[in-house]
Amino acid sequence: MLSEKLLSKMNEQITHEFFSAHYYLAMAAYFTKEDLDGFANFFIVQAEEERSHAMKFFNFINDQGEEAVITGFKDPKIDFKSAEEIFTLALEHEKLVSSLINELMALAQEEKHYPSISFLQWFIDEQVEEEANMSKLLSKVKRVGEKGHGILMLDKEMASRTFTPEAE
Ligand code: FEO
Repeated sequence: MLSEKLLSKMNEQITHEFFSAHYYLAMAAYFTKEDLDGFANFFIVQAEEERSHAMKFFNFINDQGEEAVITGFKDPKIDFKSAEEIFTLALEHEKLVSSLINELMALAQEEKHYPSISFLQWFIDEQVEEEANMSKLLSKVKRVGEKGHGILMLDKEMASRTFTPEAE
């Protein structure tokens, strides 16, 4: 069982995670258009991960005997201009998601809802990794620039990322 407030915030998080998937897919579309298929692959995999995050919340809400509420969301930005812009926005977005997860954890702690605290700990750890990934890639993209050999090498590196669904 979840309090009304915690349930409502968890439901909002489903929407945020699905929005993240859309946002990253829009970024993948930009890279596909630019023939940077490795970068596109990175964001397609990232979108898969975000969908799996949404499903974790969906399943947790169900397991608590509550009803998950699925809503729509705004259109993601699509007019990207560069790889640097994209990684800057992706890092900003992950920081926003981290703050939402932190707020959820603060609420779960305030309510001493231990199942939620335990569930949310995974997301706290995941966000550290997500921010670090985006931050590292932003510095790499800044270092190599938008044109030339460097970006193609980086693109090749990004092509190897795969999505591994977690065991339930
Ligand atoms: Fe689900 Fe990238 O945070």
